[in-house]
Amino acid sequence: MRKVKKGGTVKVAVVLGTRPEAIKLAPVILELKRRSALFEPLVCASGQHREMLAQALAAFGLEPQYNLDVMRSRQSLSEVTAAVLGGLEPIFTSEQPDVVIVQGDTTTAFAASLAAYYQGIPVGHVEAGLRTEDKYSPFPEEINRRLITHIAELHFAPTEIARANLLREAIDAARIVVTGNTVVDALHFIRRRLARESSLRPDFGLDAGKHPVILVTAHRRESFGQPLQQICRAIRTLAERRPDVSIVYPVHLNPNVAEPVHQSLSGLPNIKLLGPLDYVSFVALMDRATILLTDSGGLQEEGPSLGKPVLVMRDTSERPEAIDAGAAWLVGTDPQRIVTAVETLLDEPQVYQHMATRPNPFGDGHAAERIVSVLSEWHHVTAAPERDPQRNWPEGLSPSPGASTSLDSLRLFRFC
Ligand code: UD1
Ligand code: UDP
Repeated sequence: MRKVKKGGTVKVAVVLGTRPEAIKLAPVILELKRRSALFEPLVCASGQHREMLAQALAAFGLEPQYNLDVMRSRQSLSEVTAAVLGGLEPIFTSEQPDVVIVQGDTTTAFAASLAAYYQGIPVGHVEAGLRTEDKYSPFPEEINRRLITHIAELHFAPTEIARANLLREAIDAARIVVTGNTVVDALHFIRRRLARESSLRPDFGLDAGKHPVILVTAHRRESFGQPLQQICRAIRTLAERRPDVSIVYPVHLNPNVAEPVHQSLSGLPNIKLLGPLDYVSFVALMDRATILLTDSGGLQEEGPSLGKPVLVMRDTSERPEAIDAGAAWLVGTDPQRIVTAVETLLDEPQVYQHMATRPNPFGDGHAAERIVSVLSEWHHVTAAPERDPQRNWPEGLSPSPGASTSLDSLRLFRFC
């Protein structure tokens, strides 16, 4: 592996490509910027998403220094993989980052970690260790994240369950740090903004009254075709049976999603189909919503953070914490099951209340600080291995007695 530079700033290439990566890496980038005496963040966008990535970055006032702009309509997985891998090579060659940070399980994250590995650049993986143990669900994310795990040097696991998954795959415990999920940091950041600015967009038509609002998102590849048709059937049935309920659905731009959704759900008075929302507007909408009905990964974390019950329209989830805590139910894509679950929450206040008041298992909003502290400590250790480890560790970080490697001390960051 390439030798880490001594002295000077640590160049951290943060690679992102899709909406959720931008939202979950924004707190890390902001924290790296805040600590500019030590870090030089370099934001590299693959452009796997175009409009949706720009929307997400704008919410945090961030702009990438590089944008590969790889998005094509109806792009295939191999096209994205090849374009990101090839596009990052010259950037990594000229910029020589000390470390590459990726998040989650997208094709951008996988291809970026492979590009870094090919050049001997260590990789830090944010949101490491999520697993369903079903390699086709979610597809291709389950395999992407497993491959990233075996490339990465540093694993920022959001929860203890994620950490245990990594340990089961023989990942060195000293390289895993449980940080919480950075999406909680992102939510805190946006809610501070919402406290200052007016919140709900008037065109949602939701200001009047306190009637129930169901917020829907769905986009997973494994749902294309029949499962998505079933999801639409359930939403239509709910709209017809419950005229008192508003259903708001910001539709993903993927034509495999947008076309069938608009075909099935246009024209009903209590269904509002919107384009993707900027993150500030979306957080305001989640705040107003009664129930989140979704197949998204991020919403399964945001729901418990906001006290909103989440109904997960998937057969598997890599976020068992929310389900175990009782904050989310796995309802699959069977229309009857979806309708029954929604109506139970609408009609049984005790059930609703129980779900809405579960503790948030995804962290305390300080994940990015932990990640950046670990990067700082890791750099300190790897750039100066000849240092006296007992004397030079920053306060609060001295290695535990008998620690076999300096990175063992990073376990001190574990917060839960
Ligand atoms: C990707 C990720 C998925 C993540 C999701 C978040 C992979 C394999 N999938 O899936 O893990 O949950 O993003 O949304 O990495 N499009 C636009 N404009 C945009 C974004 C997308 O037009 O701003 C359309 C394009 O036609 C594009 C298609 O959506 O070809 C699919 O985008 P892609 O990134 O390949 O897959 P997602 O389903 O978005
Ligand atoms: N989101 C958003 N605008 C929208 C829909 C979702 O900002 O119109 C946010 C949402 O709050 C979450 C993230 O996008 O933080 C989830 O993205 P997505 O569902 O595309 O991906 P996943 O989480 O499934 O990977």
